Amino acid sequence: MNTSTDPTTRAPIIRTVADLRGAVAALRAEGRTIGFVPTMGALHDGHLSLVRRAAEGGAAVVVSIFVNPTQFAANEDLSKYPRDERGDVEKLTAAGAELVFCPTPDQIYPDGFSTTVMVDGPSQGLEGQIRPTHFAGVATVVAKLLLMVRPDRVVFGQKDAQQVAVVRRLMRDLHMDEIEMVVAPTVREADGLAMSSRNAYLSPDERTRSLALWRGLEAARAAAAGGERDADTLQRVAHAELAAQQGITVDYVRLVDADTFQPMKTLDRDGVLCVAARVGHTRLIDNAPLSPGASH
Ligand code: PAF
Repeated sequence: MNTSTDPTTRAPIIRTVADLRGAVAALRAEGRTIGFVPTMGALHDGHLSLVRRAAEGGAAVVVSIFVNPTQFAANEDLSKYPRDERGDVEKLTAAGAELVFCPTPDQIYPDGFSTTVMVDGPSQGLEGQIRPTHFAGVATVVAKLLLMVRPDRVVFGQKDAQQVAVVRRLMRDLHMDEIEMVVAPTVREADGLAMSSRNAYLSPDERTRSLALWRGLEAARAAAAGGERDADTLQRVAHAELAAQQGITVDYVRLVDADTFQPMKTLDRDGVLCVAARVGHTRLIDNAPLSPGASH
């Protein structure tokens, strides 16, 4: 098997699908269950929390690092996406990952590749409207990775709430019932900023401005906890915080159904208040799950 271990780390790096299958089979032969965390690298504590969640109950954790070209549009700079394979593997090893799958693009998209997975429903609107080809790229690579790893459990972060809804729909529609999908809470910096690989692009001043996203979500959360159920009002409350901050361009503030991602008029079931804004050249997204039972 062609695996390589970086001298400063433990977790073997696997580059081909054939080697991945062999390594997973070996773990299964030892009686291990498999937890899986797909990533695009540039890892932070949010990712590492997904790894720890995937390992619960003694599962062997496989993490993929693949900057997936099909989920980037032509105007989004794929080549500038932060990459640090060596640092990532060290962090993953410390967090307990046992295999790191770092495929080359030809392993994922071999010559003649012609299949795209399109998930309708939750891909529509919000990120799907602003980035029209994004979720087809995500759904395609996630379906492929799940078929390659065939884990017992896959873990995603709530930070990308629409991606979660798209993958949940994909897994239902493609009968991947034997895989447990776990959604782990968003990990935040001490001041509330959601951890994201894109935070690395923010200047100190932009980072301060970015906190308006968190303030907006907190304001809406407080309003919902106080009994507010009208979607327009909740959206307005959050938007007011963003609008009060100079140097931020709001893309959307929208309350949607947590499962279908369709807009809600009233918070009468589980919803997600989603925000997206541009701070300088960096586009940030964040969200707050809201539920009608949360008032006090
Ligand atoms: O959330 C991400 O990092 C990516 O969208 C994913 C799920 C790894 C697919 O490329």
